[in-house]
Amino acid sequence: MRAVVVSEYGVLPEVREVPEPVVADGSVVLKVEATGLCRSDWHGWMGHDSDIVLPHVPGHELAGTIAAVGAGVSGWAVGDRVTTPFICACGSCEQCLAGDQQVCPNQLQPGFNYWGSFAEYVAVPYAAVNLVRLPDDMNFATAAGLGCRFATSFRAVHQVGKVVAGERVAVFGCGGVGLSAVMIASSLGAEIIAIDTNSEALTLAREYGAVHTIHASADTVAQIHELGGAHVTIDALGSNDVVQQALQALRPRGRHVQIGLLPSGVNLDVGRLIGQELTWLGSHGMPAHAYPEMLDLVANGNLNPQQLITRTITLEETPAALAALTTATPAGVTVITP
Ligand SMILES: NC(=O)c1ccc[n+]([C@@H]2O[C@H](COP(=O)([O-])OP(=O)(O)OC[C@H]3O[C@@H](n4cnc5c(N)ncnc54)[C@H](O)[C@@H]3O)[C@@H](O)[C@H]2O)c1
Ligand SMILES: [Zn+2]
Ligand SMILES: [Zn+2]
Repeated sequence: MRAVVVSEYGVLPEVREVPEPVVADGSVVLKVEATGLCRSDWHGWMGHDSDIVLPHVPGHELAGTIAAVGAGVSGWAVGDRVTTPFICACGSCEQCLAGDQQVCPNQLQPGFNYWGSFAEYVAVPYAAVNLVRLPDDMNFATAAGLGCRFATSFRAVHQVGKVVAGERVAVFGCGGVGLSAVMIASSLGAEIIAIDTNSEALTLAREYGAVHTIHASADTVAQIHELGGAHVTIDALGSNDVVQQALQALRPRGRHVQIGLLPSGVNLDVGRLIGQELTWLGSHGMPAHAYPEMLDLVANGNLNPQQLITRTITLEETPAALAALTTATPAGVTVITP
């Protein structure tokens, strides 16, 4: 099969023939129909993830059709249309049994722990726990986003941030994660302040429900306070500067949700956390059992993840698109069709 292969961190990957994944007991192999380009793929390519072993195939935000079903997997058949949370949980540990598959210690992530979906085929381990059946009327490009960024933002806003109607939510970074968060928080009745350095991203944020947009600058925090301050801030980029601004922009007792990865760590003003009783919340993916609520909101038109897709590219165009994330992010979500 054809796949995007990373041979050296930070060096342009190449598209070449590699062996197809073999279907293991308890797993399925999917024909990849669509896969999103997420900044976490860029982090992996840059060498920020210690789980990756080179040579490596990235890609973790995916949808496809089942091409092979491993021994012991029941209820799934060749041809079924599915997605999977990028966190493929084991289903049998203490965390999984408590419903917290997103923090399973035995989790396997395509495109990080093993070869991912920037390829014609990808394996999904622990299929019984992780496969999510797609509604018939959902296309694969839309479904791919449910594998990572849209679902991650759904959990971050709704289950972790517990955003409710009337709250002011500041979303820092309006790429795939941030625009999803804008759409989801807006559908919950929150007042959204969207912050980005890219005017096109801010235009999209307005389309998806942001009431206020701020072009990121040294003035960002003051502008948020002029609007009354934020009840909830979301770092949807992964930046020490953004974290500092977000914590400064919160109202007393505000909640900060960290989605963006911070490979170099972060300096936290713990004194402010204590004195203002701020809450720092980490958020990681979303387990498969939580998908039906999100899929219902998509089905009844409250959430429209298909609107986030602005670009569809081929596998051959993927290495350059991945490398380009070093300098800028094109507005909206990029989907790859292998
Ligand atoms: N926690 C999780 O489970 C999880 C899941 C998915 C992605 N992530 C992480 O979330 C982050 C966002 O991913 P993405 O794919 O949406 O990224 P992206 O590259 O699509 O979006 C980042 C956005 O931030 C903007 N930006 C750049 N500098 C800025 C600044 N100084 N202030 C405000 N905005 C700025 C960019 O213009 C872009 O629109 C990444 O760190 C990714 O690895 C985490
Ligand atoms: Zn991702
Ligand atoms: Zn587990």
